Amino acid sequence: MADIPFPASVEKNIEQALRVLRRGGLVAFPTETVYGLGADALNRKAVARIFTVKQRPPGHPLIVHLGNTDDLALWARDIPDYALALARQFWPGPLTLILKRTRQVPDEVTGGQDTVGLRVPGHPLARTLLQRFAGGIAAPSANRFGRISPTRAEHVRAGLGGEVDFILDGGACELGLESTIVDCSRPKPRILRPGSIGREALENVLAGGLGNGAEELPRVPGSHDSHYAPSIPLILVPRTEITARARAYCAQGKRVAVLARQKAPAEMPAQWKTMPVNAEDYGHRLYASLHALDGKNYDLLLVEEPPQLSEWEAVSDRLRRAACKI
Ligand code: TXA
Ligand code: MG
Repeated sequence: MADIPFPASVEKNIEQALRVLRRGGLVAFPTETVYGLGADALNRKAVARIFTVKQRPPGHPLIVHLGNTDDLALWARDIPDYALALARQFWPGPLTLILKRTRQVPDEVTGGQDTVGLRVPGHPLARTLLQRFAGGIAAPSANRFGRISPTRAEHVRAGLGGEVDFILDGGACELGLESTIVDCSRPKPRILRPGSIGREALENVLAGGLGNGAEELPRVPGSHDSHYAPSIPLILVPRTEITARARAYCAQGKRVAVLARQKAPAEMPAQWKTMPVNAEDYGHRLYASLHALDGKNYDLLLVEEPPQLSEWEAVSDRLRRAACKI
C-alpha cells in the first residue's frame, strides 16, 4: 500500500470516491495520461452504466486498472514472459497490456472477447484509490464516445457533467495522451495504440522485438477514424503552407483557429496558438488546447503537421484521427 500523505481534503475525496465505487457508482479519476471514468470492474451493472454515460456502443472493450503488478494473475492467464518483462519495466505507468483474460472478468468489460486490457497507472491519486479499493477499476477515458479525452477535471465536468457520481480532481494530467497499448495475447507483441512509451523503449525490453503486421488485429475502437475529434473541423496542414491557408480561409469569411509550432506571422487574422516544439510538451498540451477551442464558434481549426519522427508518433496518431476528410 502506497503511504503517501495527502492533505485532509484530498483524503476526504479519496474516501468519497471509494464509497461511490463500492456502491456501484461511477467515479472520474485522474491518471498520468488522461482522466478515466471508473466503475468496479466486477460489477456488471456499474460497468454497463459507463457505456450509457459515455454513449459508447456496446461491445467496445474497457481497460481494467489495477493497484499492483502482482494483481495481474487475478485478471490474466497464459501471460507470456515478454508481457511480464514489460509490466516489470513500465508499471506503474502509461502502458496497457492486452492479455488473455481469466474467468472472473465480465463480458461487459471485454466486449465478449477472450482478452482484457490491463494497466497499473502511476498517478499517486489513481494508485492510492486502486490500492485501497483492492479490486480492478474498469475505465475508459472520461469523455463522450468519439470526443477528445479529458486532461483536467473541468473537461470531465463540461463533457459528462452530472452523469458522473463523483469527480476526483487531481489537476492537469502529466502526460495528456492516452496510454501505449501493446497486444500481448499472441506469440509476438504488437503496438495497437502509440503513446508516450515509444517503440524504441518497448524494444529495449523485448528480446524478440515487436511484430508490426496490421493483419488480424483485434478490434480497437480507438483506431476508428473519427476518434478523438473536436466538434469543429480540424485540418492538418504542411508547415510551409499554414500561413497562406489561414489567410485564405479568413479571406473567405471563415473564423479560423490555428495550432502551430511556429510563431504567428505579422497581421495574421486567424486566432493563432503557438504550441511547444518538443513532442512531450506538445502531447501534454494538445487535448487541453483542443478543449479550449471547442465550443468557441470557430468554423475551422488548422493544425500544423507534426514532424515525421518517432517521438511524435503518438501526437501524429491522435491528430490524424481528429482530422476531418475534406
Ligand atoms: O491512458 C489510457 O489508456 C486511458 C486511461 C483512463 O487509462 N484509458 C483509455 O481508455 O484511453 P479508452 O477506453 O478510451 O481506450 C482504450 C482502448 C480502446 O481503444 C479499446 O478498444 C482498447 O483500449 N482495448 C481495451 N481492451 C481491449 C482488448 N481486450 N482488446 C483490444 N483492445 C482493447
Ligand atoms: Mg477514449
